[in-house]
Amino acid sequence: MMGTTSLEALAAAVPAGRRWFQVSLWRDREASRDFVERALASGYEALVLTVDVPVAGSRPRDMHNGLTIPPALTARTVADAALAPGLVVNLLSTEQLEFASLRSWGGTVAELADWIFDPAASLADVRALRDAWPGQLVIKGVQSADDARAVVEAGADAVVLSNHGGRQLDRAPTPLEQLPAVVAAVGDRAEVYLDGGILNGADVVAAIALGARSCLVGRAYLYGLMAGGERGVQRAADLLAQEVRRTLQLLGVTSLAELTPDRVRLR
Ligand SMILES: Cc1cc2nc3c(=O)[nH]c(=O)nc-3n(C[C@H](O)[C@H](O)[C@H](O)COP(=O)(O)O)c2cc1C
Repeated sequence: MMGTTSLEALAAAVPAGRRWFQVSLWRDREASRDFVERALASGYEALVLTVDVPVAGSRPRDMHNGLTIPPALTARTVADAALAPGLVVNLLSTEQLEFASLRSWGGTVAELADWIFDPAASLADVRALRDAWPGQLVIKGVQSADDARAVVEAGADAVVLSNHGGRQLDRAPTPLEQLPAVVAAVGDRAEVYLDGGILNGADVVAAIALGARSCLVGRAYLYGLMAGGERGVQRAADLLAQEVRRTLQLLGVTSLAELTPDRVRLR
């Protein structure tokens, strides 16, 4: 990651630069299988199975803010839109965005998750996916060393240590605090990626120092996307790369490879 500022270079520097395809297990296994086959036929290299959404977490703010499909229009959203006339013009003058597979569906995103996802998914499903997927198999949503060990034994090549940014089970373990134990459990057999709370390059440095192979970024790039579209995402990536470099300089090391766990203080 050192010395890179462009989004492409950043993506190429980490394993996430592989073409990742993210799925959850659906109640309709036939459709799930078909989805995976289409991902394979489309040239994706890594399949990421998210396992921390057996049901949707409680998200009262989503309901309060009208985050439904299609989005609910409340007095507040209309008032917010009035402050962004360009957005309103764009909304009214372009074709409405929709999910091709959900045209007849209406409700909150949480209700949608509960309708589609299978809460009874198990390690047997990870083994079945392993048999069906020849590329890299990544399990996202692992929260303990025991679970990391179990999914690696079931065939996973990598685990994403994640609590879904706290959006699923409030009070779930903090991924960074679990990282040393998970790396000790599976680090010799599988890559460990850290997800959640990466909002600054210093967070990336802490995760790498504690043994993560790379980090995933959710909100940080979405903030850039909201503020400035594609250029905003590029800017967010550039800022993260700059902060990584500056943090390494402040620590007095010249490469990520020099980072060791003793560089990090957890609470
Ligand atoms: C708007 C939004 C949509 C998301 N959609 C998915 C998803 O479809 N699958 C998934 O595994 N995680 C999803 N996530 C969770 C992120 O991948 C990530 O785990 C979480 O945001 C924590 O990372 P952060 O602290 O960098 O945001 C979503 C997060 C956000 C904010």
